[in-house]
Amino acid sequence: MRLNRFLAQAGVDSRRKCDLLIQQGRVSVNGVPVTQLGVRIDPDRDQIGVDGRPVRVGERLTYILLNKPAGYIVTAQDTHHRKTVFDLLGGIPQRVFPVGRLDFDTEGVLLLTNDGDLAFRLSHPRYQVPKTSLALVEGVPAKEALERLSRGVRVDNWVSSPAQVRLVKVTAEDALVEIKLQEGRKRQVKKMCQTVGHRIKRLWRTAFAGIRVADLPPGRWRPLRQSEVRKLRTLVGLNPDLKNLK
Ligand code: URA
Repeated sequence: MRLNRFLAQAGVDSRRKCDLLIQQGRVSVNGVPVTQLGVRIDPDRDQIGVDGRPVRVGERLTYILLNKPAGYIVTAQDTHHRKTVFDLLGGIPQRVFPVGRLDFDTEGVLLLTNDGDLAFRLSHPRYQVPKTSLALVEGVPAKEALERLSRGVRVDNWVSSPAQVRLVKVTAEDALVEIKLQEGRKRQVKKMCQTVGHRIKRLWRTAFAGIRVADLPPGRWRPLRQSEVRKLRTLVGLNPDLKNLK
């Protein structure tokens, strides 16, 4: 197989851009830099590197945005035989894994990827990735309850960090509250709202790290655009350009 084709299939870049990488001396075959175009390699035997890091085919980096509907669990296999989000991901050859969790009944933005570095950082509290939720709560929270939510409330043995909280809509019996957090504990939004006396009837994640479902219908997925991947990687301090390099 031609080297540039191997690199392109591994998701490093387009074939033309991979030719440039080769000409720049950034690609090695079995540890030896190759600058000539048209070199052939054996993908099963040869060790290919870019900038000194190994490239493996079959690990093409994949980034998926799913508009999760209620009634799907975010796990590969459920012991209770419930439907999982992977039942919605037909047609993706790569193995991807969810970035963080959404509850069985939570809807909205769920990212899935096999980019381990990105997934790790997006889920790690240190990177303070913003997550926006829209909660339909029982009753109408008073100003004081909204202020408590935004200042931080004690839940179990932790206190929530400051949040941006906004009352979006009010009816006689319930209200829509938008909550923007930079942390993501298990069932955090539900527990926070419950603590200030407002049980959540329905919960959507409307944005994760700036990614929104927009016009993607519930239950449908799409690959992230390259610009979105670049933005995500930049947000958590990863090189936005080097794809498929471990
Ligand atoms: N907070 C929750 O309570 N549930 C979710 O699924 C996500 C955030």
